[in-house]
Amino acid sequence: MERPLTEHIRKDHRPLTLREYEQTGGYQSVRKALKEMTTASIQSVVKESNLRGRGGAGFSTGLKWSFVPMDAPKPKYLIVNADEMEPGTFKDRLLLESAPHQLIEGMIVSAFALQADTSFIFLRWAYKEAARNIRFAMQEAYDAGYLGVNILGSGFDLEMHLHTGVGRYMCGEETALLNSLEGKRATPRAKPPFPQVSGLFGKPTIVNNVETLSCIPHIINKGADWFQKLSRTSDAGTKLFGVSGKVKHPGLWELPMGITMRELLEEHAGGMQAGLKFRGALPGGASTDFLVTEHLDVKMDYASIAAAGSRLGTGTMIVLDDKTSVVGFVRNLIQFFAQESCGFCTPCREGLPWIEKILRSLEAGDGEQNDLQLLDFHTKYLGPGNTFCALAPGAMEPLQSALKYFRSDFEQYIAAELQTLAQGLPAERK
Ligand code: NAI
Repeated sequence: MERPLTEHIRKDHRPLTLREYEQTGGYQSVRKALKEMTTASIQSVVKESNLRGRGGAGFSTGLKWSFVPMDAPKPKYLIVNADEMEPGTFKDRLLLESAPHQLIEGMIVSAFALQADTSFIFLRWAYKEAARNIRFAMQEAYDAGYLGVNILGSGFDLEMHLHTGVGRYMCGEETALLNSLEGKRATPRAKPPFPQVSGLFGKPTIVNNVETLSCIPHIINKGADWFQKLSRTSDAGTKLFGVSGKVKHPGLWELPMGITMRELLEEHAGGMQAGLKFRGALPGGASTDFLVTEHLDVKMDYASIAAAGSRLGTGTMIVLDDKTSVVGFVRNLIQFFAQESCGFCTPCREGLPWIEKILRSLEAGDGEQNDLQLLDFHTKYLGPGNTFCALAPGAMEPLQSALKYFRSDFEQYIAAELQTLAQGLPAERK
């Protein structure tokens, strides 16, 4: 099984030096792209490869690139979204800490394809080791002539900067990220215009995820067909899949797109811990819908997971077991989203804390009969189209699907409360 993204990652996760990386074939795609290819031919290979954005949305990378006006005057920006902060998601961290040259290589080729002259790695504040390793690798790349002016004598110039965020989830939303990079408050912008046309400082800007750009060197070296064939389904490539929760071996693996949930859970994560049963899982980070036992044979790719009623998202599964309170599990996620709301639009700012309060009161045994209707109402009121960005609709996905699959768990809290109340009443009123 080929694992292009992780095959040169050492067991101790120490990144390769530039020289070691070159010995594994590193930076070959920069030579190939800048010396043998045109911007149009690189773009068409990426489009044909059917690479889809690995940040969570799965938008076609080639299509996104095609919106960038090639004749626009400079500056043009390429930004790597490395602000990985989705609960349960820890996939980019491995690439950032342990394969920084692979990312830088992907950025150089992508910037050349888009004729971007300035690039940023927007890194999650807490990823300190990644910051150290990227800084070191970037300096090595500058010293070797892969970055800066007239790269490898091609006439192409590229500046690269590392920018560390401020530790807010919102900064990972691409337009809030742009505001943050401009030194403004990290609130989302209206789309359209999309960043490809009017992004950082109003200039054409591509924002791509770490894993997405780390695929680019391999696609350029080995071709679109090879990339497609790595997958078991029509969604191309390999994918970093993660599993967290009470499984025997939580972890992260590079596997073909299209492996089943069951394989991921049982063969790679070792199945559930002793004494626990699988009840459900969020397949791609906290802002995806639960899938349950009947879905275990669903393929982990964008189309199959969508057909089952959820999203592949970041491909990092959070598992729910039969001894964990569903209400507590969901409340924990909602608490995170409520805290991380940027407060810019009312449904998100006011609705998420309200939901958190209802779930807390259920957990505390203070639930009321109409709480479930209120929760149902909120899942629609905070759903797609009613808020400025995807934060609140994403937060509603685990809640709405928990209410669908595990409704009786919520009802039990209310029934328990009614019983407690009844016990306190005089016999004639019971
Ligand atoms: P989106 O679907 O609005 O956009 C995805 C990308 O495609 C963006 O770059 C956007 O500019 C582009 N795009 C979409 N429609 C376009 C059009 N008509 N024309 C031109 N470009 C277009 O999704 P969004 O809001 O950017 O991301 C949401 C996803 O992010 C969720 O699926 C979630 O799974 C994921 N996420 C990941 C996190 C992480 O830590 N990796 C954190 C939070 C969310």
